[in-house]
Formats: sequence, C-alpha cells, structure tokens
Amino acid sequence: MAAPLICPSILASDFSKLGEEVRALDAAGADWIHVDVMDGHFVPNITLGPDIVKAIRPHTKLPFDVHLMVAPVDPWLDAYRDAGADILTVHPESGPHLHRTLGRIRQLGAKAGVVLNPGTPLTVLEEVVELVDLVLLMSVNPGFGGQSFIDTSLRKIERARALLDAAGSKAHLQVDGGVTSANAAACVAAGADALVAGSFVFKGGPDAYAANIAALKA
Ligand code: DX5
Ligand code: ZN
Repeated sequence: MAAPLICPSILASDFSKLGEEVRALDAAGADWIHVDVMDGHFVPNITLGPDIVKAIRPHTKLPFDVHLMVAPVDPWLDAYRDAGADILTVHPESGPHLHRTLGRIRQLGAKAGVVLNPGTPLTVLEEVVELVDLVLLMSVNPGFGGQSFIDTSLRKIERARALLDAAGSKAHLQVDGGVTSANAAACVAAGADALVAGSFVFKGGPDAYAANIAALKA
C-alpha cells in the first residue's frame, strides 16, 4: 500500500506565527498544507481569509489545499485562488450550483475538490465525478479541530473508493477529522490516499512534527 499524502491542517497551529509553522511543516515532510476557511455561518467558527493565505504563501512551495467552509462560496473562489490556493474544495451545501462552482474552480486553473459531511450522501458525487480532482470525506462534523473520528466513515471511504474506481476517476480521496496514527492505516486500507490531520500533527510542538507525520505515513 502506497504511503498516503499527509496534509496538516494549520487550524491546529500557532496563529501568531503562521509563516514559521508552515515552514516547519514543510521541513517535517508534509505533502500539502490544508487550510480550513470558516465563516461563522456555514460552520459555527471563524478562522481566516484570503489575506492570510496570501501572507503565508511565500513560506513554502507545497500545494495549498484550501477547504472552504463558507456560504455562499462562489463569490470567494477568485480571491482564494489569487491568494495562492492550488486546490479549492467546496461543500455541495455551500451554493445552489455545485456543477457550476466546480467548473469555475478548474477555469481558474486550480484543482477542484468536493467535500461531503458525515450526513451528506455519497450520491452527490455520482453527478460531478468528472469535474473533481479531489474528494474529501469529513470524518467529523466540520467547524472545529480536535474532535473524534466517526467510525462509520471507514465504510463511506470504501464506498467512495468503489465509486471513483468504477468511474475511472483518478481523483484523490482525502479524509479529514480526528485522523491519528490509530486510524490512519484503516483509512488507507479503505481506499484513502490523502489524510488531513490537525491536532495529531501539532501535538508536542515543532520538534515533534516530523515524527507525527511519519507516524501517519507508516
Ligand atoms: C474541521 C476541519 C479539519 C480539522 C482537522 O472542520 O476541516 O481540517 O481541523 O483537525 P483534527 O485533525 O484535529 O480533527
Ligand atoms: Zn479541513
């Protein structure tokens, strides 16, 4: 089994020194930087805007994987792309025209991702599979870091993997929420190839980032 891509969520980082944190993650072997954007409306928490993404962009060449928990999302796509996002991932509930939104993301030259909440059926994916470069399955309800992995997510990962394979899709299958060394291997066995992790990567401070990332890959 190939090692998964590890995408640390900077939601769990020290916001007073985001640039340093991003450089430390790069040095520690992160594959992508996962940026959680929350608007206090689509989810009950507020994080950061495009200016912050722009400010940290010069600190690494790693892809910025921007998870937009914002509604309506369409008015924000250009700003996050201009700020340096490489992947823009959207929830189907964050706008009335998912198909159009995904098309717009690709038109901007970014990779398009769709993210499904624990309560959102996988069938949404059937309609847009050809428009996505990444499928993100939430293994917690979005809004906060540090929540526990919902175990039924494993079965959903398997079903998503089957759907992508049947469609001949090469899209990444990413999992987000409560990912630790205790469930990472099960996620990969179920068919995931990219793992988001916040609390797990950041525990122990910068000196521990490399070991924590390695533990997720192992
Ligand atoms: C939740 C976010 C996740 C979260 C991951 O809304 O999308 O990226 O921060 O954090 P942990 O790994 O702590 O669950
Ligand atoms: Zn996320």
